[in-house]
Amino acid sequence: MYTNLSRILHYNSAMDFLKLVQHRRSVRAYREDPVPPDLLTSCLEAARLAPSATNSQPWHFIVVTDTEVRSRIAELTRLPGSRMNAFAAQAPVIIAVVAEPPRLVTQIGALLQKTPFYLLDIGIAAEHLCLRAAEAGLGTCMIGWFDEKKVASLLGIPKGSGLHRRRVSLLITLGYPADAPREAKRKPLQSIVSYERYGGEGN
Ligand SMILES: Cc1cc2nc3c(=O)[nH]c(=O)nc-3n(C[C@H](O)[C@H](O)[C@H](O)COP(=O)(O)O)c2cc1C
Repeated sequence: MYTNLSRILHYNSAMDFLKLVQHRRSVRAYREDPVPPDLLTSCLEAARLAPSATNSQPWHFIVVTDTEVRSRIAELTRLPGSRMNAFAAQAPVIIAVVAEPPRLVTQIGALLQKTPFYLLDIGIAAEHLCLRAAEAGLGTCMIGWFDEKKVASLLGIPKGSGLHRRRVSLLITLGYPADAPREAKRKPLQSIVSYERYGGEGN
């Protein structure tokens, strides 16, 4: 009872959610300052609490702070001849989000539904982490472009096989932003929402 009450009170005193969502941006320039361990833990805790299909929680987070390993990971995010992901080398923390094999029931459900639920789960957990980071004044950027094989080998991730295969689904850079966030570019609401049926009137 007390726990429930304190959860409600805490929720009501939290930062306005829509403001937080508006505030979060992908950060591609970082200060050198390290991320305080308690803030890092709170970001991971936010990810831990994410929902997932059949509550299978098919994720593992590898926190990399070692300078040498970070710079090797950063190299593996580059597209030769482009500036893409050059910022990754600056971030004081890189988190590799590993997709663990989901429970059998989830895998069967995903096969029948033809939807890779684990990727939805990973995306939600990653966004929880990024939103908590934004709330704490930290910046993040999800990185989906990287040499997965080499990152997995560098971080000693056991492959598994078949239904037990592990994937490195995402990297997330984390640190204090070095510059002001850019304006969000988003499609207008009326172009992405319909009511009652696809393309329906009233939007
Ligand atoms: C799954 C995923 C993969 C992404 N991969 C990259 C990436 O490799 N490099 C990068 O700079 N940004 C990457 N981003 C960030 C997006 O470019 C960014 O979220 C989008 O442009 C919207 O900007 P905002 O996050 O600042 O609102 C990725 C985002 C997601 C969700």
